[in-house]
Amino acid sequence: MNIIPPATPWRFCLAPMMRRTDSHFRHLISLLAPNMRLYTEMLTPNAIIFGDRHKLLDFSAIQSPIALQLGGSDPKALLESAYIAIDCGYIEINLNCGCPSNRVQSGEFGASLMKNPETLNNCVRLLTTKLPKNIAVTIKTRLGIDDIYSYDYLNNFIKRLIENGVNTFHIHARKALLKGLSPKENREVPPLNYDWVHRLKEDFPSTIFVLNGGLKNLDQIKTQLTKIDGVMLGRHAYADPYSLMEFDSQLFAKSSKQLSRSRIAELYIEYMQKQLTQNIPLRSMSRHIINLFHGQPKSKFWRKALTIQSRGKEPNINDIIVALKSVTAS
Ligand SMILES: Cc1cc2nc3c(=O)[nH]c(=O)nc-3n(C[C@H](O)[C@H](O)[C@H](O)COP(=O)(O)O)c2cc1C
Repeated sequence: MNIIPPATPWRFCLAPMMRRTDSHFRHLISLLAPNMRLYTEMLTPNAIIFGDRHKLLDFSAIQSPIALQLGGSDPKALLESAYIAIDCGYIEINLNCGCPSNRVQSGEFGASLMKNPETLNNCVRLLTTKLPKNIAVTIKTRLGIDDIYSYDYLNNFIKRLIENGVNTFHIHARKALLKGLSPKENREVPPLNYDWVHRLKEDFPSTIFVLNGGLKNLDQIKTQLTKIDGVMLGRHAYADPYSLMEFDSQLFAKSSKQLSRSRIAELYIEYMQKQLTQNIPLRSMSRHIINLFHGQPKSKFWRKALTIQSRGKEPNINDIIVALKSVTAS
């Protein structure tokens, strides 16, 4: 039985992932799961202010509504980059308080902000007071950091952010360890603790909480949605994107048309063909459909066709079309 969508637009979210949730992957996800709320990879304010903002912020029409994730701790730069993104059509600014990489630590943002709530709240206050009221300012955070790992600390951390105007939190339900673990290990080693996210929802019932971390199937998702407002999927969305179509149609009354993997591949190939005319490198797009046939008999063949360099060259679009015909024929 389908679940009727509640008021929150955060029911089903795609997690921000560096080098993964770029505009091309998000286009693929929009074909599969049109109700999913999309997040960019984490971008720094300076990259947006001084860099190639079209390359960083442009997105295809089907990706709307879309959220920008920012990683930074300079309030003015965050605000300036948020304004630029809003002009491009972004409707949510999500601040990263959970990334544990070295780059982030040296810049004192990401997960480090959990240790520096003063700095974080200065940023948040500026964003929530200056940005238009229809723009959501949201936070993606962990449960704790290093030796700061108590429910009381977390509760107080969230409480102050709510007082400063944040109404939606994406909680990666484990702590981060800044020393000794790589970013990858930081997504695997610290144990998941969903109970604290549920407690947050009980303690702040009018605030929206989105649970993230380790979700892989519909049963898990439906169970979580009985306790919190939304779920956010990261690695599973990349490993088996086609499964999102089923999740999307089960979680929303206005479900999408069920399309076959081959049809999705055709639509994505059409998209790539258009992008190629804008000189977008094929590889930057084709890499995102490598897992489209995950779990299918010909998935190995498909992966190979998209990744293997034949005769010393990358596959071209015609190679991909031929590979699709072969997969479909089986
Ligand atoms: C390759 C990769 C890149 C990531 N980049 C970001 C990022 O830019 N910003 C962020 O908040 N989290 C990032 N994350 C963490 C995810 O958003 C998510 O919190 C984490 O993977 C746990 O969710 P999952 O178990 O559904 O994957 C990244 C994760 C992966 C695997």
